[in-house]
Amino acid sequence: MEVIICPDADEVGRVAAAKVGQVCAAASRPVLGLATGSSPLAIYRHLQLMVGEGRLDLGRASAFALDEYVGLDPAHPESYRSVIHRTVTEPLGLDPDRVHVPDGSAEDLEQAAAGYDRAIAEAGGVDVQILGIGSNGHIGFNEPTSSFASRTRIKTLTQRTRLDNQRFFDSLEDVPTHCLTQGLGTIMDARHVVLVAQGEAKAQAVAATVEGPVTALVPASVLQFHQRATVVVDELAASRL
Ligand code: GLP
Repeated sequence: MEVIICPDADEVGRVAAAKVGQVCAAASRPVLGLATGSSPLAIYRHLQLMVGEGRLDLGRASAFALDEYVGLDPAHPESYRSVIHRTVTEPLGLDPDRVHVPDGSAEDLEQAAAGYDRAIAEAGGVDVQILGIGSNGHIGFNEPTSSFASRTRIKTLTQRTRLDNQRFFDSLEDVPTHCLTQGLGTIMDARHVVLVAQGEAKAQAVAATVEGPVTALVPASVLQFHQRATVVVDELAASRL
């Protein structure tokens, strides 16, 4: 695991975007793995700059988001489909037909989950997976005790995650209780992984991920087994390392 400590949150985005850009530039049809949440927004901003200045061409890129709420109208502004469209697809000028988000409103969720893993495989696998981290060490929506071998599937959100995400909704009751998320096994299949974290609220999760034992209680700690995992954090998120 390569750990890079940056002076501030914007520099985290710049360094991580450079890494993502480097992997994309080496692929003829790059496949990006996208994360939602506030942490990767700085990456997307810097990727947008790189594309705008002609330093990066994502014209042939496709992308797969990590996760989606179950039971939320896809048109809801906080559905991950909407969030990815607003924060990634539009600003980076990606082809919307090649940006995929799990279908949390499918009638048969298990089939939708299995189909999502198949679609990733058919696209040739993810070249570089962007990740944030939950305050409880989750990646995607793989909550503590998720199996390291898990594939895309339905998960129940923990109360802590629902409380963390309450800020995007009018009330706690409006926060969905379930999601579809790529599994830890799916994430580990990506050829490169770039995890970013900023702020003191993530310091404990970052320390447990990087220096703690590999345990299903800290799902991100599985990345210690990844051959090309880069963790880019600001000084606050690194404060417990
Ligand atoms: C959600 C997402 C995760 C994300 C996490 C942290 O739970 N499913 O992919 O990493 O939030 O979000 P933030 O970056 O806003 O702290």
